[in-house]
Amino acid sequence: MKTFYIETFGCQMNAHDSEKVVGTLVEKGYQQVEEIDDAELVLYNTCSIRDKAEQKVFHRLDTFKKAGKGKIFGVLGCVAQQEGERIFERAPHVSLVAGSASYTKLPEMLVQLEAGNRRVTGLSLDTADTFDTPFTSRDNPYRAYITIIEGCDKACAYCVVPFTRGPERSRTSESVLREARSLAELGYTEVQLLGQNVNSYRDPSAAGWDFAKLLDETGKIDGLKRVRFTTSHPRDFGKSIIDAIDQNEALCDHVHLPVQSGSDSVLQRMQRLYTRADYLRRIEWMKKARRNIAITTDIIVGFPGETEAEFNETVRLIDEVEYDAMFIFKYSKRPNTPALLLEDHIPEEEKTRRFTLLQEQQRSIQMRRHARFVGKREHVHVEGYNRATNQWVGRTSQNKTLNFTDARLPAPDGTKTLTGHYLDVLVTRVGANSLAGESVLQ
Ligand code: 5AD
Ligand code: SF4
Repeated sequence: MKTFYIETFGCQMNAHDSEKVVGTLVEKGYQQVEEIDDAELVLYNTCSIRDKAEQKVFHRLDTFKKAGKGKIFGVLGCVAQQEGERIFERAPHVSLVAGSASYTKLPEMLVQLEAGNRRVTGLSLDTADTFDTPFTSRDNPYRAYITIIEGCDKACAYCVVPFTRGPERSRTSESVLREARSLAELGYTEVQLLGQNVNSYRDPSAAGWDFAKLLDETGKIDGLKRVRFTTSHPRDFGKSIIDAIDQNEALCDHVHLPVQSGSDSVLQRMQRLYTRADYLRRIEWMKKARRNIAITTDIIVGFPGETEAEFNETVRLIDEVEYDAMFIFKYSKRPNTPALLLEDHIPEEEKTRRFTLLQEQQRSIQMRRHARFVGKREHVHVEGYNRATNQWVGRTSQNKTLNFTDARLPAPDGTKTLTGHYLDVLVTRVGANSLAGESVLQ
């Protein structure tokens, strides 16, 4: 058994976990393949944030129940942690079930699988470790993820993450900076610091840095041009983060600050630990900053008991903040979560109505905000070339996609490419979800 296939669902934390899993497997002599048919070991790194994400995995497993004869199936990640050994009942052809807090034991689990063990589990959440591995196999040669904190100690009433990723564990600042420096030496120019709640980062070493300090020091590393971070919790989001962004050009001018709801009573039922006013104070810091900070958010519509009046508070908050982008989700019941016990679950059609309303509202806000970019120069990191539109794809520091043409190199040509380079683009057109323009010839 030496070939493996892996499919990843969910967030950036999961994407990065998969990079570490791949690195660990390759180091143990396995070879990654792109087609399930060619694989002896098939891994799904799963997400359970909403019911739909969870269903996808079981659907995949069902599809390969017969076709996958002779293969070894493993379920990793959040569904693995949440469902545990029940997965063996729902999908008896699965041999490995392991949550992200157990990946440090992955090499041992592989040995057991190779020895022919048909039921291998790694489900303990009782760990002080973060999943550091020197063998990370990164997907993108220019932008790299770095884990700074794992798990979550909050108890948002709707959220499975505290159950699937365990308690908060921060990495030492020394270990984070060592990884960031070695990435810069390898030629990476952009890194993204990752955690379920990066703001509660606390350096466990004697240095005792907080998140703002870690962010600032990462931004000072030679060779790193862009440092991003995700995701933030408003309760722990301090002004020092904005000050760091203001003073350090390498820190990107983008903050993703999930609000979830604009209503104090809903925020309270969600156990979010902040009020609308607390949240707006943080938005105020960003709007008053020297740099033009893009703000994005997550919203849940149809949380149990959400009245029309409460929903309208969210509509008003969105108008007030004018977000650069927004991810809207319909509330989805999750196992073990406190919100299950709340009454008055909202009908699906009503969730859809609220969802569509916010989507349209946000679309016009984005059109309006983007219109201001026309005629301006933006500095982009080029991420690739889109053969369908014959345009290069760049990303601005504010995390906006900027598609552009380049007169010198209209398309990748042999070894010549703009991918990985930074250049200035004149914005000529905009849409709700992206900008478009022409590179400035220097
Ligand atoms: N239902 C709907 N959306 C959810 N999210 C988290 N849990 C749920 C749930 N049970 C959303 C939140 C979070 C984002 C990653 O997913 O908005 O910020
Ligand atoms: Fe999905 Fe949350 Fe797990 Fe990420 S941490 S994979 S979003 S459930």
